[in-house]
Amino acid sequence: MTRAPIAPYPALRLRRLRQADWVRRLVRETTLAPADLIWSIVVHDGPEPEVPVASMPGAPRLSVGRAAEAAREARKLGIPAVAVFPYVDGEKKDDRGSAAYDPDGLVCRAVKAMKDAAPEVGIMCDVALDPFTTHGHDGMIENGRVLNDATIERLVEQGLIQAAAGCDILAPSDMMDGRVAALRTALERESLQDVMIMAYAAKYASAFYGPYRDAIGSSKLASGLFDKKTYQMDPANTEEALREVALDIAEGADMVMVKPGMPYLDIVRRVVEAFACPTFAFQVSGEYAMLTAAAQNGWLDEDRAILESLQAFKRAGCAGIITYFAPRAARIMQG
Ligand code: PBG
Repeated sequence: MTRAPIAPYPALRLRRLRQADWVRRLVRETTLAPADLIWSIVVHDGPEPEVPVASMPGAPRLSVGRAAEAAREARKLGIPAVAVFPYVDGEKKDDRGSAAYDPDGLVCRAVKAMKDAAPEVGIMCDVALDPFTTHGHDGMIENGRVLNDATIERLVEQGLIQAAAGCDILAPSDMMDGRVAALRTALERESLQDVMIMAYAAKYASAFYGPYRDAIGSSKLASGLFDKKTYQMDPANTEEALREVALDIAEGADMVMVKPGMPYLDIVRRVVEAFACPTFAFQVSGEYAMLTAAAQNGWLDEDRAILESLQAFKRAGCAGIITYFAPRAARIMQG
């Protein structure tokens, strides 16, 4: 990019372009709109329309009926898509995550209800076993190791029932090697070639997922594996993120994601610059909790902090942001 030669002060006064709202709007480099947001929600199977989650004030678990209303709300607010995560009752969990491939399970029922309520709103589903396993890991475990290829077979079953239920975007968040290719092949085979894949391509083993595990009632990690570092990425790495993204695109991902969000904007930027592929970021539960807690203490102006945090993703080059703040942010934007 060629830049104008720097004229010295006082010929150049950069504050001139900041003096009024109209000119600030005129020279604004990036924009944020409801159309940039994917609303993440957690659904549960009970009758209560909303069940509060202590570590995520303002982002309760929703019943299936309430999730359908949320889809209508998304449509009204101009939010293009909703991402669904399940809270699974303890007695439905086992070590293989069997409930993940139950076509009458919670996720599929929620997808159908939401699609019935607002067919114009895109629905995205997480493909991973952790909400369904007693050990809380994203895959199958044997001898203290998370199995890659055996897990992929389960993920394919899970993805196919979600797609059959009407899910528009499969979002594998498990970080097994080769899962995007396996999902894409299976979708082709089942004549579901229009189903999109948004790969959690660069997903880090992060402390910022803590409140989410509360929200979905994920078990404390067990089976001798007390973290997800053997499959999720080391927060110290950048080059590896580019390899992950390149692979997922080659395997058939339509869109890629970096996760978590705000602490990883450098990764977003590098991915955006390296690949011509729509890149999303997940503003995760811990980011939501931090902003909300500070605001509740009166330490931050919540509305401004929410919009500024989302604008940062656009500035970094994101096509869009997955966020629990989506409806609130859309309402603030509407003024
Ligand atoms: C599970 C999954 C996680 C999140 C989305 N899908 C947690 C994890 O990997 O442990 C995190 C979402 C959030 O923190 O908001 N595969």
